[in-house]
Amino acid sequence: METTHTTHLNRITGYGRENIPNLFFKMMSFAMKLSDVFAGQSERNFSRLPIKERQIVVDYGCGPARYIQNASETVGPKGKVFAVDIHPMAIDNVNRKIEKHELTNVEAIQADGYSCALPNRIADVVYALDMFHMIEQPTELIRELARIVMFHGIIVIEDGHQPRELTIEKIKESGLLCICSENKYHVVCKLKETKCLPPA
Ligand SMILES: C[S@@+](CC[C@H](N)C(=O)[O-])C[C@H]1O[C@@H](n2cnc3c(N)ncnc32)[C@H](O)[C@@H]1O
Repeated sequence: METTHTTHLNRITGYGRENIPNLFFKMMSFAMKLSDVFAGQSERNFSRLPIKERQIVVDYGCGPARYIQNASETVGPKGKVFAVDIHPMAIDNVNRKIEKHELTNVEAIQADGYSCALPNRIADVVYALDMFHMIEQPTELIRELARIVMFHGIIVIEDGHQPRELTIEKIKESGLLCICSENKYHVVCKLKETKCLPPA
């Protein structure tokens, strides 16, 4: 149940809202950095994603861009990584990393609500990690993910801070995706019309 206290806390942290205040974005980035330095969390999370060389991948809701370097190296010079986020600080982070690590196959794209400037059916893999719980209109976000993924591409959705049942309920409610597989960490989806069939 939401109390005055939790509402106030949510207002400060941005939790449950998609436009995180700058201070919270910085705090979140710092906490993620600590978990990477001391626990190698990003490496572990990234290793679970089904990404291959030469693919076009989209990191949707990339935040502090902690997966960008791994994604760039995995897809290689013939692949491409699009890092999408609604927050301008996330876009700055991506651009800083592109410059620092000379990531020539990475591009940052700022989302506007539930849309971004990527063409239809561009991505082999779209992954949305630790962000789905924040989304106020999940069907609208899923519509955008479904628009940019290739017909036989896959969409990986991590629960974030919500139970798996809720993630699945939201995916089913959209009517756009079918769930091909799931593990402890995320749900792997395809466009509903493909009925989760592998590429012909
Ligand atoms: C908790 S962070 C996770 C960042 C990153 N995926 C990770 O796991 O390290 C959630 C991110 O989702 C972004 N976000 C929230 N709503 C969004 C939307 N509608 N479109 C794009 N990004 C969004 C936020 O700005 C934030 O950077």
